This record gives sequence, C-alpha cells and structure tokens, in this order.
Amino acid sequence: MKYLIANFKQNGDKAFYADYAQHLKAHLVPNDKCRAIFCPPAPYLMFMSDCLRLHGVDADTCGQCISRFGSGAYTGGVSAAMVADCGAKYALVGHSEHHAASLKKITDKIKCSLQAKLKVILCVKDVNGLDAIPNGTRAEDIVIAYEPVEAIGTGVQPTTAKINQVVAELRAATASRLNGNPAVLYGGSVTSKNCKTLLKNCKIDGFIVGGASLNPANMVEIYNLVSTSK
Ligand code: PGA
Repeated sequence: MKYLIANFKQNGDKAFYADYAQHLKAHLVPNDKCRAIFCPPAPYLMFMSDCLRLHGVDADTCGQCISRFGSGAYTGGVSAAMVADCGAKYALVGHSEHHAASLKKITDKIKCSLQAKLKVILCVKDVNGLDAIPNGTRAEDIVIAYEPVEAIGTGVQPTTAKINQVVAELRAATASRLNGNPAVLYGGSVTSKNCKTLLKNCKIDGFIVGGASLNPANMVEIYNLVSTSK
C-alpha cells in the first residue's frame, strides 16, 4: 500500500477544513493503491474527520501530536485515545518540529498509539530513529517516513541517490526488526511539481507533504501521481 499524508501543521481554521473536505469530495477519487491521510491541528481533528465521513470521502485523519501519557494531570495534553475518539486512525510521531523528543519519549508515544488502536506514522531522519520502535510492533501497524530535517520547509531536497540510500537502510532494518515490510515514505519540500521526479527515481511508497498540502488541488494531483506510480 502507498500513502499520501497531508501535514497541515499549525494552519487553517474551520472554514478552511470545511472547504478542503468539499474539494476532496468533488475531486479526489480514492483507490486501493494509495491511502490519503490528513493531519489537521488537534482542535479541528474531529471536525475534519466528520466532514470527510459526511461527504463520503474514503480517506483517514491523523493526530499531529499525542501525549506520551495515557491520561492524567498534563495540562494541554492530547492523548492517543482522544485522537482516536475524534475519528483519527493514525498518529504522527517523532516529527522534527517537536523539539527534544528523545527516543524514550517517542517509544512511549508509539506504545500509547498502538494501545489506542491507532497506526503510527513514525518520522525519522535516519536509521537510528528506528530504535524508538517498541519490541513486538507489527509491520502493518507502522509507516516509516524519512524526513531529513534540512529538507523540511526549505525547498532544498537531498539527491535521489541519498534518498534511495537512506530508504534502503530503513527497509533493511525494519525487515529484520519488525519481521515485515512497512511502507517507507519521503517527506521534505514535496510539491506537485517535484514529486514526479521523486516517484520516478526513488524507491518510496509515498510522501508526507507539509506546505504544499495547504492547497487541496495539489494534494489531489500528488495523490493521482502516487496512485499510478510503479
Ligand atoms: P514540507 O513539510 O513539505 O513543508 O517541507 C514536510 C513535513 O514537515 O512533514
């Protein structure tokens, strides 16, 4: 399965998410080759989940960040269970814009997600990031995203050779540790223009898109290209 993930970060409002879902209803034709997943900020997670469901858009939502604790006196915390209760099927974990997320904290977040029956999208900058995956995690419960920090929001991407090298390392390491083959995505300054070259030259299973995902027409275009790629 391929994946296309829209990471909206700290952007948008209710009208934006309502319009976005309308656009998807009109233009996105989901297929079984690629799963489209949308990550709105926590206050809009339930709203966007409901909009997609009411419009009959066959796509998922994902929490952008979850607490490493189950529940309790953690002001501002959003638990994995809350994210699941708001309609999400996935949790994004380990994104570099979450500062100081140690491997231990990332492991805790993965455990909380799996306990809440969320699948995990784990962002790593290299193969060492896989050390956060708890023992016993099933390959089908996790998607790995190679996200080089220097490519995020900068418009500058690694060479396709570098992407292929890191992706190959991630595939080899996950095959032995998880006893399976999770999808491996690339994220960092992906646009509807440069994604064609990436799909042609890199052995990847899809993308995480930040800035460019704020335009739903871009996402539909990238979705169609990922779906039809080999
Ligand atoms: P970008 O963000 O596409 O704006 O570089 C990607 C990400 O942070 O996942």
